[in-house]
Amino acid sequence: MEETPYRFPLENFMSSEKFERIKAFGKDKETPFLVLDLDVIKANYEALRTKLPYAKVYYAVKANPDDAVVSLLRDLGSNFDVATRYELDQLLRLGVGPDRLSFGNTIKKERDIAYFYEKGVRLFVTDSPSDLDKISRAAPGSKVFFRLLTEGLGADWPLSKKFGSHPDLARQLIKLSVRLGLEPYGISFHPGSQQRDVGAWSSAITTAGQLFRWAREEANVKLKMLNMGGGFPADYVEPTDTLQQYAEDISRFLDNNFKAEWPEEVIIEPGRSMAGNAGVIVAEVVNIAKKSVHERYPWVFLDIGKFGGLIETLDEAIKYPIYFEGSGNAREIIVAGPTCDSMDILYEKWTYTMPDSARIGDRVYILTTGAYTQSYSSVYFNGFPPLSSYILK
Ligand SMILES: Cc1ncc(COP(=O)(O)O)c(C=O)c1O
Repeated sequence: MEETPYRFPLENFMSSEKFERIKAFGKDKETPFLVLDLDVIKANYEALRTKLPYAKVYYAVKANPDDAVVSLLRDLGSNFDVATRYELDQLLRLGVGPDRLSFGNTIKKERDIAYFYEKGVRLFVTDSPSDLDKISRAAPGSKVFFRLLTEGLGADWPLSKKFGSHPDLARQLIKLSVRLGLEPYGISFHPGSQQRDVGAWSSAITTAGQLFRWAREEANVKLKMLNMGGGFPADYVEPTDTLQQYAEDISRFLDNNFKAEWPEEVIIEPGRSMAGNAGVIVAEVVNIAKKSVHERYPWVFLDIGKFGGLIETLDEAIKYPIYFEGSGNAREIIVAGPTCDSMDILYEKWTYTMPDSARIGDRVYILTTGAYTQSYSSVYFNGFPPLSSYILK
């Protein structure tokens, strides 16, 4: 078998100075833990504002609800996509006004809608007549926007058929909202998270454009807002187009479909692309072992796995860059977590490697883990505490 020296392209993810800072910061902390770099979140916010200057940002809090992240984005002027009353309480506690919030979950209890309304929120997503009924009772006169079903093809983490309605149903909902005394405000879609095919925005924007025209011509409703969801990528193992490329393409799709009359308000709801690159999980190698004398690849067991916050490795959907310091030739490995559950295997199909020098007790660095990790970590499964998170000082 041909030998190749181990080499990890750290420069694709961060400077070596930044890496050394993170390492030094975490030196005395018990692994596993997440380190968040707020400078990266600030840069991500500014990049989105610069590349898509016409779009209002509603940060999807679920991606990383750390108070420090939310407070930073509050100060930068972001708005927020809120999934639950618990996120709402957090945002209000941190001094974000209700006019900067949208209740963006299509699945909601009527009493939670009432709670949002009581706190001053007037912008709600919907995708079904029963949900619209609830909104009309619990949040009378509010603005509603209609989420379209998308296929999520091309996305590493598709949100699939759980959310949204077919355009036929969306038309009915638009009419129904008028009858219920609500303000039909706009159309939304989410193209699928970590969407690597910008074409997904093209088809959704085309459908949205048709609905805007239908509403104006057939229902005498002037929709004002287009919400293009999240989906913008973070830097994992498999490369994506640049944000610049996404922005150029999306602007062209808007021009093609809305011509001179763009929606009065265009919204994006980034989560992963805002927080993903800002995080590094520092973990430790617990064991390196083969299952049989002749097994080809060793298993590398880390002290973090699916239940410690890396649930997006399900079906190896999200491929986090994993950096082993060390030297020597590259050895192909299977990567697994520490719990007693047999589904706690991170990667056995995709080729991950470690250097020859890697040993039990070494630290490993799992990059681009700022989004959808800590908030997913389990509460004491096998006794492991939820993932600790620190802000890089
Ligand atoms: C309604 C809504 N908006 C935005 C997002 C954020 O998407 P992403 O992390 O792909 O940017 C999500 C993610 O689940 C979502 O459900």
